[in-house]
Amino acid sequence: MTATATATSTPLLELRGVSKSFGAVQALSEVDFDVHAGEVVGLVGDNGAGKSTLVKVMSGIHLPDAGRYLFDGRERRVSGPNDPAGFGVATVYQDLALCDNLDVVANLFIGREEISGGPARLIRELDEPAMEKQAAELLKTFSINIPSLRAEVGMMSGGQRQSIAIARSLVGDARVVLLDEPTAALGVAQTAQVLALVRRLREQGLGVVVISHNLADVFEVCDRIFVMRLGRKAGVYDAAGSTPEEIVAAITGGRGTVRTQAAAARDAAADGEEAAG
Ligand SMILES: Nc1ncnc2c1ncn2[C@@H]1O[C@H](COP(=O)(O)OP(=O)(O)OP(=O)(O)O)[C@@H](O)[C@H]1O
Ligand SMILES: [Mg+2]
Repeated sequence: MTATATATSTPLLELRGVSKSFGAVQALSEVDFDVHAGEVVGLVGDNGAGKSTLVKVMSGIHLPDAGRYLFDGRERRVSGPNDPAGFGVATVYQDLALCDNLDVVANLFIGREEISGGPARLIRELDEPAMEKQAAELLKTFSINIPSLRAEVGMMSGGQRQSIAIARSLVGDARVVLLDEPTAALGVAQTAQVLALVRRLREQGLGVVVISHNLADVFEVCDRIFVMRLGRKAGVYDAAGSTPEEIVAAITGGRGTVRTQAAAARDAAADGEEAAG
């Protein structure tokens, strides 16, 4: 997506002025964020910068203390994860939560198995042929190569497992997919496989948000890069028009070294003591 299209079209998902604290920790301060259909936004920042918290606000797991949530240009009320799920916001968490002893079809449909005969039927049976057909179509749409739909996922590679976890999030009517560190545990070839899948999500018109600590991956797959620092939006960059050095400077606040929120808090406390003393 070009910068012009981003500037003119209505974002699919938009947060305005979102703040969230956990006790004394201000995890998010007045963050504005947006992602468009057919766009991949990279979410980067140092440990503790607020990336996961921001994604959890998007998925409805955390309710912000302040701020607005818009989907399709309309302001929405979010009171839990069911609301974003209902708009079509799907999340893939880092720990994947796949069931290793179940096969691919079972993992794709876990918790939403197709029931044949309708709810009135006393003895419910899972509609296996329907699920298998839908699973095959889903994997084909996104060119996900799995040796067999009936193989246990515990036997599969990290890249295949991540692909299955992403595919599972697409069962239903996903329009935005949130990925928290999808390549963190993967080797080179498996990372390439997952990044290719992210590109196909974009080609299918989905909005994608990817948290990553790997700037090479971010530059390879993202249209825009959203940098967070100490719970604030530090800047948004067009990937095509920026360099890794600029992004690192935004992440670190131009210090050249990565600073944690804890370190910043210590320095602030020390400054306070100096001022008082
Ligand atoms: N449930 C929680 N309870 C208390 N504090 C929290 C909670 N979740 C996050 N925090 C704090 O909020 C801040 C932001 O955390 P967050 O997990 O969003 O960072 P992050 O950018 O995802 O970091 P990382 O790269 O390490 O995953 C941190 O200071 C963290 O300790
Ligand atoms: Mg995190």
